[in-house]
Amino acid sequence: MVFFLKPDAVARRYAGARSLKMLMDNASDIEFLCFEEIRACKDFLADQHYVEHKGKFFFDWLVDYIASGPILVSIIRTTNEGVSKIREILGPTFPEKAEIEAPNSIRARYGIMAGVNIAHASDSTESAKREASIWIPYLRDEFRIDISKSNPRVVEDAIQGYIQTYIDYPMVDPIRYRELLRLVINDIERRHEVETRIAKLLALEMGKEYVLSSYSSKLAKIIVDSVLLSKSKR
Ligand code: PPS
Repeated sequence: MVFFLKPDAVARRYAGARSLKMLMDNASDIEFLCFEEIRACKDFLADQHYVEHKGKFFFDWLVDYIASGPILVSIIRTTNEGVSKIREILGPTFPEKAEIEAPNSIRARYGIMAGVNIAHASDSTESAKREASIWIPYLRDEFRIDISKSNPRVVEDAIQGYIQTYIDYPMVDPIRYRELLRLVINDIERRHEVETRIAKLLALEMGKEYVLSSYSSKLAKIIVDSVLLSKSKR
């Protein structure tokens, strides 16, 4: 199956590290075949990975979001039960719903709101096979990442190393993001103010590599767009 930390979880290092830790501590029968930070291109996302969602109202937003920054990709070898367990650990699609329905899930604990939901995981055995069959050649051809040569123990060490490096990074409680986003849901005129305040929270959480970039502002806009898009469809 394919699991990746989305751009929000890579930028917010603590959230990404904690999410990975929850996965490592709670999933069973899993073997990681790679763990790589890459920038996925829009064509691959639109025409292959997310192709089944083409035409849905969130499709363009979703492709732009995932292509907006680095993601951390893993190919995981597991059983049917392993796929279901990982989905359970991840939680329902929307973090604000996960908070109510599955408060101990990754998305409830670390996700922001609407489609800004920390990670992707294949949602069934069929999609796990389909996604692995497109990601493996994509990683090999575009990034020279050869899964056939991977050593799961080395990959697992790399993941544990990532967790150790980022587990004590600063964190902002996702509730603070959700509170700010409710302001803009109730009053669109506050959009600029909310984006600015969210960018400041993101900057607190971001890894050093991001600090000099304007990615916090870009991600803040992506987050507000997602919330407003979902609101318009309610
Ligand atoms: S659906 O509508 O049943 O296909 O939705 P779902 O299976 O839950 O999700 C499919 C992927 O689309 C993302 N998604 C959204 N993104 C943004 N806005 C909205 N409203 C939205 N609804 C669904 C969702 O996160 C899934 O992507 P991945 O990468 O698998 O998380």
